[in-house]
Amino acid sequence: MPRHSCYSSYKLCLRCFYSCSCTRVKREIPSTCGCVWALLVLCVFLFTLIWLYVTLILKNDIHNLNEEIFRLKGIWQDWSVVLITVAAVLASYSVVLLLISMCLVVSGQPLDLHWLHQIFVCFCIVLVSLGIIGLDLKWDIEWTAVAISLQATSPFLHIGAVIGVSALAWVLAGYFWETKNKVLKYLLPLVYIILVCALFVSPVFISSPCIIKASELPPKPWFMGHRGAPMLAPENTMSSFDKMVNSGGKVFETDVMVSWDGIPFLMHDETLLRTTNVKEVFPDHSRKSCSNFTWSELQELNTSEWFLQKNPFGTAGSLTEDQLKEAMQQKIPSLEEVLIACEKHNISIMFDLRQPPPGHPYYESFVNVTVNTILNTSIRHDLILWLPDDEREDVIKTAPGFKQIYGRRREKNDTNILYDVNLSYTNISLSEIRWYRGDNISVNLFVVNKPWLFSYVWCAGATSVTTNACHLLKDLTQPIWLMDPDSYLIIWIVADVLALVHIIWAFFVQR
Ligand SMILES: *[C@@H]1O[C@H](CO)[C@@H](O)[C@H](O)[C@H]1NC(C)=O
Ligand SMILES: *[C@@H]1O[C@H](CO)[C@@H](O)[C@H](O)[C@H]1NC(C)=O
Ligand SMILES: *[C@@H]1O[C@H](CO)[C@@H](O)[C@H](O)[C@H]1NC(C)=O
Repeated sequence: MPRHSCYSSYKLCLRCFYSCSCTRVKREIPSTCGCVWALLVLCVFLFTLIWLYVTLILKNDIHNLNEEIFRLKGIWQDWSVVLITVAAVLASYSVVLLLISMCLVVSGQPLDLHWLHQIFVCFCIVLVSLGIIGLDLKWDIEWTAVAISLQATSPFLHIGAVIGVSALAWVLAGYFWETKNKVLKYLLPLVYIILVCALFVSPVFISSPCIIKASELPPKPWFMGHRGAPMLAPENTMSSFDKMVNSGGKVFETDVMVSWDGIPFLMHDETLLRTTNVKEVFPDHSRKSCSNFTWSELQELNTSEWFLQKNPFGTAGSLTEDQLKEAMQQKIPSLEEVLIACEKHNISIMFDLRQPPPGHPYYESFVNVTVNTILNTSIRHDLILWLPDDEREDVIKTAPGFKQIYGRRREKNDTNILYDVNLSYTNISLSEIRWYRGDNISVNLFVVNKPWLFSYVWCAGATSVTTNACHLLKDLTQPIWLMDPDSYLIIWIVADVLALVHIIWAFFVQR
């Protein structure tokens, strides 16, 4: 078979997929309508790609969404799997369409998108728009996470964008030499040139904390186990505590409530539904507030079967037989039990303290009961990182040895108040972290699970992080990337020059 006919059957095949029309045509200029659709395909490609990126970033915080949906609807599901799969399918589809339309333009074939593809393309736009609107209405704090991720990865995004935009030159050049439309002929390249110039100088605005000399890298943040090690054992159990200690966690970060008969115990949610078998043991009042149960009732519950059934982090499958056996037998721990374990292992404890509902016998005195429980054990007071704001002044007086940690940012003018802070990583800027650290204030950031985010806060200088993944992050010996500022300058300039040469070459060849 002669070479050119092989080549043209390949073009035909592309056209079959794109237009569902398989008749051979001579080289021709694309119709305006076809061009509009091709441009739309390009936009949809970018749109779905951005959405895929957003869903990957959300993965760090997905336990919040999973828990919230369980609280509202009673359905347990790892929503990151759903979100990422849908986004990946949409992005793959649009990238295939885009590549084909680029090939068709280059080889001068007609660009008439089949109506079925047109419907799918619109469907992609609708689906991604719904995702973005939903995120904006219900979970807008995640835009900050996205902004942080852009800051963290900006040098790579810049280089990726330079490559992408310079590849686009082929399509543009093809159009430029073929079109009869005088306005578009010059307008499109003008827009393109502005875009390229903006991209070339954009690193001036990049302030990624990991562009730093290796000698200036701050020490690695240490770990607070978020409810222990919730990926290895059911959250807020003694097993979770042990796993965290073995994974190098220094602080047990947990949640404390007071039972109906005044025993502080560990539990995160308002009800026992998510993390215990309360539905089987107390079917009639499974929806009661946790604090409305007595300690002996709470002791009847199993807090680990759910972990194996719901597999909240997809990690239950990787546990050994012994680990599973241990995990299966967990009960709700009392605060006292945990304090004794903390003392034994020299582990600090930090917790949120939840007020019982109105009408509860300890509605007023829940802080007192908790402080007394601590004082009645022999734990060293400097192992208590006191976070609750309720009656803090009284607590400082009763137990001056507790370390006080504040869950709020310091105001610009209260420079003489030097307190250690515990903040969401979305609630503090790079410059604030540096300002605090300059004043020797410890900065703990929560909840940092993914290596990219951990690397970011490490470069930024955080003292410690609250994390679900002590066992994974402890193995990182350095941030996942670190770039010398001078090396980055060279990479930046070389990438820009190569892209420029490539663009000029594309226009030259297409002619
Ligand atoms: C808990 O008990 C208090 C006092 O009896 C009652 O007012 C409240 O409604 C109960 N709350 C729940 C959620 O069970
Ligand atoms: C407990 O751990 C701290 C660091 O977290 C260390 O400085 C201290 O020496 C340890 N104390 C004991 C008794 O091991
Ligand atoms: C912070 O601590 C270092 C070392 O302990 C000390 O040299 C520095 O003066 C302290 N800075 C402030 C603002 O207290």
